[in-house]
Amino acid sequence: MLPGVDAEKEPALPGSFQYTDNLMAAVEYVMRHLYRYLQLLSDPGAAALAQAAALVRSDLDFLPVLQKLEREYPHEIAREAVSQALFRVKAARKFSQADRMFFTKDGLEQASGELVSNYRADRLGRFQLLFDLTAGIGGDAISFARKGPVVAVERDERTVDVLQANSIALGLTGTLFAIQADSTIPAWRFPRDAVIFLDPARRTSRGRVYSIHHYEPDFLPFTKLTEHVHSVVVKVSPAVRWQEISGLSCEINFISAFGELKEAALWFGESASTARRATILPQGWTLTEKALQEEAVTDPGEFLYEPDPAVLRAGLVQQLAYQLGCTRIEPSLGLLTSNELRPSAAARCYRILDVLPFGLKRLRKTLRDRGIGSITLKKRGSAVDTEVFEKQLHLSGENHCVVLLTRTRGGKVSMLLEEIRNSVD
Ligand SMILES: C[S@@+](CC[C@H](N)C(=O)[O-])C[C@H]1O[C@@H](n2cnc3c(N)ncnc32)[C@H](O)[C@@H]1O
Repeated sequence: MLPGVDAEKEPALPGSFQYTDNLMAAVEYVMRHLYRYLQLLSDPGAAALAQAAALVRSDLDFLPVLQKLEREYPHEIAREAVSQALFRVKAARKFSQADRMFFTKDGLEQASGELVSNYRADRLGRFQLLFDLTAGIGGDAISFARKGPVVAVERDERTVDVLQANSIALGLTGTLFAIQADSTIPAWRFPRDAVIFLDPARRTSRGRVYSIHHYEPDFLPFTKLTEHVHSVVVKVSPAVRWQEISGLSCEINFISAFGELKEAALWFGESASTARRATILPQGWTLTEKALQEEAVTDPGEFLYEPDPAVLRAGLVQQLAYQLGCTRIEPSLGLLTSNELRPSAAARCYRILDVLPFGLKRLRKTLRDRGIGSITLKKRGSAVDTEVFEKQLHLSGENHCVVLLTRTRGGKVSMLLEEIRNSVD
């Protein structure tokens, strides 16, 4: 709750609120609550926030800037302003308009980054009405609201305040309707053409949880609603256990951004179009499951490809090999090779400089002969302790290369590689 706000005067949300029957009531509820956020969005909150934003760069600035602002503003406003200014610095990694948004610590940490949430909103295309049933501070809801009307439900009071403030600050009050409620209450009714989105909390009263059965809220009952609604989409951990989702009738979409695996989402209903999908951002490159014959295994050729983590996690290496016209260098490892360069957003690409039978002495001599004094040491399918191994190489020289400890169909090898940058679409 914001400073100076009298909880007594706040209207309560009716317990069994049925938005679909009464969307106007949701709008009215938002309007009645507006005064809460105006404090942060207008003087003196906004002036304090602007001052704090000009002064803070990192957590170390918190105390000195707070002390400075306290000379001009009440403690509560100064504290909120410095906290928000610091959140905005951190949030710039996730949101292009972070400098206008509001956050809570948990809300920011749990929020989906804009790159991924925009992709998801784009994929849904135009919808009549979307229900984000675990809206948090709005990481996903904001992207959805730029496409169409969103009812954004959040259980936590402080978080829903911030969500509301974001709707106002970003000019989305016409499409983003924030409501404080428990999504699991049985009074919910959804129109036929609605889309339901859930990003259940994985940090719960039990601490950090890993099983989908411990997520909050339990999303499984919502997946049954595809008989009535257009689609249900659920964000889950990219480390989700296959055995927990294999029985679900849905598409699973693994998403990476800038080569880092970010998340997975389960798509139920009409928007699901394949069983498994890997999406690579920012390129928006997508690979889906297809029935293919086993691809060939060959000796390494001129080039080596290390598939993006989303492709690996989705188990789509075979599809990538087929698409690029590559072969595997070993049946169980996800490393591909070709004699012609096949640049792709879906794989890091390397020129193969040398392939040596695995062995410390042989590798040390080859690196010395090539004047290689620094390496990026990687391993795939090797049990070697790379830190110890690298020290034992006693490197010296001006040149650099990537060394990969791995296996081919002929046995264990050390590969000397040169990364081909900008090979990505
Ligand atoms: C992972 S966060 C959502 C983050 C959000 N998608 C974003 O990008 O900002 C999950 C949110 O669900 C809320 N939540 C958990 N159980 C809920 C329930 N039964 N009803 C409504 N919200 C709930 C939590 O308070 C938390 O803010």
